[in-house]
Amino acid sequence: MPVHVRLMRSDDSAPVAGLCGELGYPSTPAEVAQRLQILLPLDNQRLLVAEDDEDGVVGWVHVQHALVLESGPWAEVAGLVVTERWRGRGVGRLLLEEAERWAAAHGHRAVRLRSNVIRKEAHEFYKRRGYQVLKTQLNFQKRLEHG
Ligand SMILES: CC(C)(COP(=O)(O)OP(=O)(O)OC[C@H]1O[C@@H](n2cnc3c(N)ncnc32)[C@H](O)[C@@H]1OP(=O)(O)O)[C@@H](O)C(=O)NCCC(=O)NCCS
Repeated sequence: MPVHVRLMRSDDSAPVAGLCGELGYPSTPAEVAQRLQILLPLDNQRLLVAEDDEDGVVGWVHVQHALVLESGPWAEVAGLVVTERWRGRGVGRLLLEEAERWAAAHGHRAVRLRSNVIRKEAHEFYKRRGYQVLKTQLNFQKRLEHG
């Protein structure tokens, strides 16, 4: 396959931002560049892109160590997306496998992720890759006037 997986770099911000939009989180390249500046130096985060020789960056995955007071640590896939034209060609699998390899290499025995209930196709993809539903949740937010 002409697609290979490599570490994300700060100069990937434009295609990565485009893919954030495809994931449902419209972001500008400048916003992504700002986030990358924070995330890329952290060794508890792994950001990878799938790159095609001709089409450039066609997907990305972000996996991280997660820890909260009541549980953990565990590895969490914080985001995964493949550009529409490239879906169904094994790129998502490639990215997820690399994320899992990183998690295993860091001693994690499980990988978790959250996926919106409307993403039926992604759910099928995850089930095919051996993931099981643990629970469903409500996601709350309160906007702060002076936040
Ligand atoms: C979910 C997503 C990342 C999967 O990536 P992809 O490159 O299309 O998936 P792949 O081609 O690697 O598929 C891998 C496996 O999943 C299966 N699969 C993929 N999409 C599927 C679908 N809609 N229904 C059933 N199986 C599916 C493939 O058949 C393949 O199975 P196999 O390895 O046993 O042959 C991609 O579709 C995507 O970016 N979707 C939009 C964004 C999104 O929902 N991201 C997840 C947020 S939680």
